Amino acid sequence: MKKLRVMSIFGTRPEAIKMAPLVKELARREGIESLCCVTGQHREMLDSVLGIFHIRPDYDLDIMEPGQSLSTITTKCLLGLEKVFEEAQPDLVLVHGDTSTAFSAALAAFYHKIKVGHVEAGLRTLDKYSPFPEEMNRTLIGDLADLHFSPTRANRENLSREGITKGVFLTGNTVIDAMATTVRKDFRFTTQELNELDYTGKKVIAVTCHRRENYGQPMENIMAALKHIAQTYPETELVYPVHLSPTVQEVAHRHLDGLSNVHLIPPVDVEEMHNLMERCYMVMTDSGGLQEEAPALGKPVLVLRRETERPEAVAAGTVKLAGVEYEDILSMARELLTDRDAYEKMAHAVNPYGDGRACERIADAIEYTFGLGSTPPEEF
Ligand code: UD1
Ligand code: UDP
Repeated sequence: MKKLRVMSIFGTRPEAIKMAPLVKELARREGIESLCCVTGQHREMLDSVLGIFHIRPDYDLDIMEPGQSLSTITTKCLLGLEKVFEEAQPDLVLVHGDTSTAFSAALAAFYHKIKVGHVEAGLRTLDKYSPFPEEMNRTLIGDLADLHFSPTRANRENLSREGITKGVFLTGNTVIDAMATTVRKDFRFTTQELNELDYTGKKVIAVTCHRRENYGQPMENIMAALKHIAQTYPETELVYPVHLSPTVQEVAHRHLDGLSNVHLIPPVDVEEMHNLMERCYMVMTDSGGLQEEAPALGKPVLVLRRETERPEAVAAGTVKLAGVEYEDILSMARELLTDRDAYEKMAHAVNPYGDGRACERIADAIEYTFGLGSTPPEEF
């Protein structure tokens, strides 16, 4: 019998982390041929994830350019995928989240009349410029997709408000599945710098910051606030693996170089990042993924953005929106560093995003939709 050809397409670090366990789950299914195509929108940061999860892509478009524009990413993906689809003839294409790779791959699949499944469907801020361009990317993918795998109930309701009610499955987020394999009590970091940090005596703050809508003044404010925190609270150690974007590298190093308790390090692999978060005191970030991972580890998160499409952990009390103004960031950090009660209120593990079985549900939903299984998956 001919197997169902399911092609997972991704290109950046966060997509790879969240798609890796799904690629593996699909490969375990008898009726499915699991193919993997990477666009290479990210190069080093993507390859790091592929290495950790032992995934060897069947296709690699290798599109990355230094300081690439959104148009470059989109056109290179569209053209590259034409050839891939002609050769591989997938029955279903899976894309993840809201990157330009995900949007272009969904559009390319639509042009070839190939069905599209959207993993991490239904996240919204309803502000088309924030996050930019991700809010528009994911909204457009919602229109292009045939299957929608929503992590949470609120995500599913967002789709329903847009009239998308068919082919929607409530699955949980695959990032929680990924964490089951990365977080370990006896984990050893690959660098002395991270192994030798005093995780109990000091207040280690895990920091990341990279979003395009924060380029310019917001990122200047964020870096200035981080500098002030490091200088005012000598008991802190800020560990900041800096995204390889030249824009981010420049502003981070200009503000934070030379401070003895700030560790500006290259991006770390996903196992290191998850274990760093597991050992840290708190997290300050504009990342989407970290907002889902840190609450699962019981770590308070200050989100360095004006809004979030992930309100669930805010409602659960472990995530706070700090915004992008210098004074606001400082006052929220000050509270967590000096007020034990306020800290304890935020430092509890919650898991509104998943239970570690999202990939299983997505694979079941695909089998059900294509007649390989008789029942839909139970909801998350
Ligand atoms: C992209 C996604 C964003 C996601 C982020 C995750 C879009 C529009 N944005 O943004 O949603 O949150 O990835 O990190 O899809 N670079 C390297 N090596 C790498 C990766 C990046 O050198 O491994 C540099 C390159 O100069 C590249 C630049 O970073 O041009 C920016 O990368 P790009 O993917 O365009 O944007 P991100 O900000 O990473
Ligand atoms: N991450 C990582 N190494 C780093 C920084 C982040 O492996 O140096 C992981 C992090 O744990 C999360 C994902 O990358 O799983 C988030 O990616 P990113 O912040 O680049 O993108 P976003 O989630 O904001 O789209």
